[in-house]
Amino acid sequence: MRFFIRTYGCQMNEADSERIARLLVDEGYLPARSEEEADLIVLNTCAVRESAEEKVWGKLGRLAQLKRRKPDLLIAVGGCMGQAYGGRIIERFPHVDLVFGTRSFVELPRLIRLRLESGRPVVDISEPPKSPFAPQLRADRIRAWVPISTGCDNFCSYCIVPYVRGRLINRPVDEIVSEVERLAEEGYKEITLLGQNVNSYRWGDVDFPKLLSILNEVDGIERIRFVTSHPKDVPERLLDAIAELEKVCEHLHLPAQSGSNSVLKRMNRRYTRERYLRIVEGLRRRVPWAAITTDLLVGFPGETDEEFEETVKLVEEVRFDYAFCYKFSPRPGTRAAEMGDQVPEEVKSERLKKLIDLTQRIALERNEEMVGRIEEVLVEGENPKVEGELKGRTRTNKLVFFRGDRRMIGSTVKVRIREASYWYLRGEVEDELRGAGRS
Ligand code: SAM
Ligand code: SF4
Ligand code: F3S
Repeated sequence: MRFFIRTYGCQMNEADSERIARLLVDEGYLPARSEEEADLIVLNTCAVRESAEEKVWGKLGRLAQLKRRKPDLLIAVGGCMGQAYGGRIIERFPHVDLVFGTRSFVELPRLIRLRLESGRPVVDISEPPKSPFAPQLRADRIRAWVPISTGCDNFCSYCIVPYVRGRLINRPVDEIVSEVERLAEEGYKEITLLGQNVNSYRWGDVDFPKLLSILNEVDGIERIRFVTSHPKDVPERLLDAIAELEKVCEHLHLPAQSGSNSVLKRMNRRYTRERYLRIVEGLRRRVPWAAITTDLLVGFPGETDEEFEETVKLVEEVRFDYAFCYKFSPRPGTRAAEMGDQVPEEVKSERLKKLIDLTQRIALERNEEMVGRIEEVLVEGENPKVEGELKGRTRTNKLVFFRGDRRMIGSTVKVRIREASYWYLRGEVEDELRGAGRS
């Protein structure tokens, strides 16, 4: 049996797909290179916006044709839409064989056996007693996702995540440390700690800044990143950790969502614009070259022109290195979906366009400031679009393309930046810094 996993949504889902792959390989399945070659197709889905769901509904429609040609093909739908819709997915698409949820994926091999033995579709979105932090079969050999928590207790009024991912569960600190030590032994250079709100991590007396300081001591790991940080929980000690811990990269992804205090209140974000700006100022005071990226949401119910302009002003003031901008999408079951005064679609689109234009212009200006500088780049692989080019990232998480030898992959090199766009840099290798290259 060969399997193919298609992942939608955030890094959490990417990490879960790596766990699903591991469970399937341990069960004797082999990875397929394409959907056509697979006997089992798993869609690990995202429900954060309607547009994310549309992609999956469209995909399921197209998979019906493949299933007609290959009646023994198994189609499994899991992740956040699996959790949100359960058996309704099979009612709408009867060619789906199996639906699982954001925690029941640990039971996937058993669910597949049940499907094959019973000859009937299987739906299981329960919360099994097993740990959700199952081992992963990692897709990359240099950078690794390390989940430190799962779920979310914040209940921002627009967000479906707490409903589909469940309550917050922190991972035991010893388990995190031994996983990172194992990754270092296997030659991984960079880890990204994952959680919906990593700064709320706590295990006994270990909070998030303390966890960073423990992981900073693991030999072999060169870079530590983390997503996502919530502005309501950024203590000064976290900014100190970014500034002082050698391996912690100088990049903070800090979703602002809005620059208006009244909107932030309706969103239940529990910080103010002033608090947000204090964090930015605190980080820049300690590390002037740090990169700050964000998520912005336009068209939240009741958002007035004035409130939107507050977001524009925040963007102009902070000058983000990059911003992911989204149109508010009402999610069933969330409080914001029930609020009156929904913003018309044309207004949302207009605001989104204005914000994208502005944030991209600023991102370009920030990247242009880097032209001429020398940056430490961890080489991740080849640029799939340009033969002979490699790609890597600066400590500030900027993507850099440059000409180089495949043997540099996995090592850190010095690159002089020659060219900038809003989403990448291009440069020339000045000097190989450290780390044995791999082929
Ligand atoms: N936990 C993170 C946080 O608190 O920022 C990220 C959660 S979510 C997976 C990623 C982004 O999706 C959010 O920051 C928000 O901007 C956006 N998002 C969440 N719900 C949304 C909705 N209903 N409509 C549009 N965008 C949404
Ligand atoms: Fe959603 Fe808010 Fe939790 Fe992020 S912190 S996952 S936006 S509820
Ligand atoms: Fe992530 Fe989408 Fe689920 S953003 S947590 S995959 S709803």
